[in-house]
Amino acid sequence: MNDIEKMLDLARKAMENAYCPYSKFSVGAVIKTDTGHFYSGCNVENASYPVGSCAEQGAISAMILGGDKKIAEIVVMGNGDALVSPCGACRQRIREFSTPETIVHICDRNGVRKSLTLAEILPISFGPENLL
Ligand code: THU
Repeated sequence: MNDIEKMLDLARKAMENAYCPYSKFSVGAVIKTDTGHFYSGCNVENASYPVGSCAEQGAISAMILGGDKKIAEIVVMGNGDALVSPCGACRQRIREFSTPETIVHICDRNGVRKSLTLAEILPISFGPENLL
């Protein structure tokens, strides 16, 4: 199994564990780091709706806990006809630990539907280098 197949497999498993009783919209995210490690996350909703968290957030937390800091590639997987591309807040969260060349794979259960760089989905972004 190559790396992208492994990431798709992990993302499907993450979707199965998503806690989304309100939206019924499960999302899985899987990061591959510059060190070759993999970290998964799923969305976790809450009865107080705005308190819920996105799949990408969970994967980033797992990465930091695991001692990694750089995202080489990330898979974001969800169901539906429209592309499940990372929400605006998650683009910024991914940006913190990415380079402009970091690849974002937008996927459904069947595979990759579109692959874009972080710079393409979040141009002219604000990051750690912008702080004085
Ligand atoms: N969701 C994510 O997990 N990631 C995204 O980038 C888009 C939205 C989740 C949040 C919520 O639990 C559900 O999808 C519907 O918005």
